[in-house]
Amino acid sequence: MMSCTVIVGTQFGDEGKGKVVDYYGRDADIVVRYNGGANAGHTVVVGDERFAFRILPSGVLRQEKTVVIGNGVVIDPNLVLSEIEELRQRGVTPAKIYISDRTHVVMPYHKALDGIEEKFKGSLRAGTTKRGIGPCYSDKVARFGIRVCDLLDETVLQAKLDAFLPIKERVFTAYGEEVKLTKEKLKETCLEHGAKLAPYVTDTIKFLHEALLRKKRILLEGAQGTHLDIDYGIYPFGTSSNAVSGGACTGSGIPPTRIGRVIGVVKAYTSRVGEGPFPTEREGKIGEYLREKGGEYGTVTGRPRRCGWLDMVMVNYSLRVNGVSSIALTKLDVLSGLEEVKVGVAYEHHGDEVKDFPANMRVLSECQPKYETLEGWEEVSKQEWLRFVEQGYEALPQACRQFIEYIEGVAGVPVHLISVGPERALTLRRDE
Ligand code: IMP
Repeated sequence: MMSCTVIVGTQFGDEGKGKVVDYYGRDADIVVRYNGGANAGHTVVVGDERFAFRILPSGVLRQEKTVVIGNGVVIDPNLVLSEIEELRQRGVTPAKIYISDRTHVVMPYHKALDGIEEKFKGSLRAGTTKRGIGPCYSDKVARFGIRVCDLLDETVLQAKLDAFLPIKERVFTAYGEEVKLTKEKLKETCLEHGAKLAPYVTDTIKFLHEALLRKKRILLEGAQGTHLDIDYGIYPFGTSSNAVSGGACTGSGIPPTRIGRVIGVVKAYTSRVGEGPFPTEREGKIGEYLREKGGEYGTVTGRPRRCGWLDMVMVNYSLRVNGVSSIALTKLDVLSGLEEVKVGVAYEHHGDEVKDFPANMRVLSECQPKYETLEGWEEVSKQEWLRFVEQGYEALPQACRQFIEYIEGVAGVPVHLISVGPERALTLRRDE
């Protein structure tokens, strides 16, 4: 029986999943995105061309494939349409694109509410991307949501707008904001979006199940990372969807019995954009070094990311909840040129050793990381990395291999893919 592969982020998103999906996507017929929305941003570099997507799965650049936006995603119709249009303008013949008719729609009032809610949350704000993600998922769960299929059905759309808009206006009033939502205008825009999206909208659940019957190879791509997940992340500083591998099932309609492999993407250090506890964060020289060398600035918002050492307490928790069978280690090149490299292996909390990731945000913010210090390795040029990739794993500097093997030892999960730069060629695959 053909089984599906899931790719998940094990940290705070921005682990370099786009490139890993692109890499494993070569062997897949279908790439499915199952969570998140325009808060995500992945960059894929092909030759000299750089593509940045927020909604479209990275596999969209391969015309022989099909990409699916699953029911677990929330879409901003304007953005999807403009990403498709940009591909056309840049002369790319994209993959076949399908959008689930069950996908929820980010409405203009969701974006407005995102900013207002953040303001009122004060120190408990997550520092969102302001793309309306939280309010849209809130409406989905509270059953106020508008789905893609509603954009294609004027009767349902009208009924929903009639019922929901007055409630939304009251919410704005409660926040002290006088917002008049013009129903007619909104309806017109929704129907217009519906008409433009119609060629892409389908019953993706049916499509995916038929694809499974036809033995198609399916790759499921998670947006964000485990520590931003609504259930497993650092609450309330994460996002509003299930980024974990379990979300791949609920967000696509592919059952758990069809998932055969989960690849956990681990960046060789940690970064996060937005607020919340981050035990191994380094604000000084090292933090600055990682940010500059790793180009750690948000793809969506351009915000500088907070940076620090790899945290295996955090990663090990992710490996468990995702059932990771194989690690893709990314941005390893960023660590070269350092005299020593640290890895967080436990926390200390008021004299106690903590190895299990705490739920309580106060406890987590009081945790002090305990590090293992490993030998660093010299700066490696791009030419040298390319040579190492060609010659294979054993060609890597010894200290670099020790770092990788140390992670495998602490994780108890093998590292099968090593990425040492943004280009496709800078990827080293170890035997699986
Ligand atoms: P939201 O998803 O826009 O509501 O943002 C919630 C939190 O998740 C904020 O701290 C964001 O910075 C963070 N976040 C959301 N999406 C991503 C992502 O794709 N990469 C990294 N951080 C993200």
